[in-house]
Amino acid sequence: MKKIGMGLIGPGFIAPHHIDAVRRLGDVDVVAIAGSNAARTEQKAKQWNVPRAYGDYKELLADPEVTVVHNTTPSYLHYEITLAALEAGKHVVSDKPLAITADEAIRLRDAAAKAGVVNAVTFNYRGNPLVQQARLMVAEGDLGRVFYIHGQYLQDWMTDDTVYSWRSDPKMGGPSSALADIGSHWCDLAEHISGMRIVAVLADLTTVVTTRYSSGGSAEAFSQKKDVQRTPVEVHGEDLANVLVRFENGVKGNLRAAQVVPGHKNGLEIELNGRKASLGWKQEQQNELWIGCHDRPNAIMGKDPSLMLPAAAAYAHLPAGHQESWSDAFFNVVADIYHWVRTGERRATVCTFANAAHVTQVIETMLKSHAAGGVWQDVPSE
Ligand SMILES: NC(=O)c1ccc[n+]([C@@H]2O[C@H](COP(=O)([O-])OP(=O)(O)OC[C@H]3O[C@@H](n4cnc5c(N)ncnc54)[C@H](O)[C@@H]3O)[C@@H](O)[C@H]2O)c1
Repeated sequence: MKKIGMGLIGPGFIAPHHIDAVRRLGDVDVVAIAGSNAARTEQKAKQWNVPRAYGDYKELLADPEVTVVHNTTPSYLHYEITLAALEAGKHVVSDKPLAITADEAIRLRDAAAKAGVVNAVTFNYRGNPLVQQARLMVAEGDLGRVFYIHGQYLQDWMTDDTVYSWRSDPKMGGPSSALADIGSHWCDLAEHISGMRIVAVLADLTTVVTTRYSSGGSAEAFSQKKDVQRTPVEVHGEDLANVLVRFENGVKGNLRAAQVVPGHKNGLEIELNGRKASLGWKQEQQNELWIGCHDRPNAIMGKDPSLMLPAAAAYAHLPAGHQESWSDAFFNVVADIYHWVRTGERRATVCTFANAAHVTQVIETMLKSHAAGGVWQDVPSE
């Protein structure tokens, strides 16, 4: 059987996780990577055992053995590179956000529809087995009428003012910082589990760390260079966001997102309250689903494939008591993306460009709400 050729553009922090995930599939060959610098990309290719390295992404797009392109470049390059990949007739997997403005994201959504290729954004938390369990329980009515969806995505890796990367530069990270980077994951997760879209927002945004000290280069995420010369840079993007959200059908919600709150590492959490029961899931305890009840004791459902709904159990790879992790959930999403490539069938865990363009609109509307003085703003419906 001929293997599917995968090529990755942007060999930084998240790239090896894309490569690991496709390699686990068995029928995909990672044939090339492309970076901004030929020598450094060559080095990464050797380290990751990838046969070809390109110093320009256009060379990778011209490689006939590449049929699926993964775009893991800094967010400001997503639009240009993803559009070029679509125009080259490749299937495209973009990391989030789809683009740094809603206008660009919508253009990519429309270009993907026109190209008729597989188009996916790695909102990877959809791939957690208990996220799928939660989604199916909501759809089956186990919660009754859902009326409240709330949660947070809190991190602390940008607490130190010596952390400065492309994410803090609006030209490269986009006009939004914490909301685009991590708030977008929460919005996608909330819409995915509930099956309801966010239709309006009221945001209060803050920049807690207003001056950061840059070492000049664009440091990879979560990396810290010590003992280097630094220059102060004024930062305007939000690192703390408090947002009220309204979903379809009048469902209320709220989100807290921040990357400067000491003690919180990858604190993505979501709770849905229905008239019959509640559900809560925390990424840092991802093998447990909290079931909140009013008329009987609360329960914690472990990730036990023998007790889960069959469609959710399909995403668990180990029996009860065996912890599964971030990489397994990422793999589940990538596996479903390649199922789409092979068969033309799209499964629910795959976030399409259309879904991701909507999330970009939601984030942009949050910025608009804050700029208008913290007033309700409707998310565009197209
Ligand atoms: N799904 C997730 O949970 C998750 C986690 C982290 C990052 N991300 C997303 O992945 C993307 C990359 O983030 P990162 O943290 O890996 O960033 P990074 O800075 O560590 O890596 C980006 C890489 O792109 C390369 N690059 C820059 N310009 C290029 C060009 N013109 N052509 C080719 N390569 C180029 C850089 O040299 C670097 O190797 C971002 O959009 C980010 O939002 C997603």
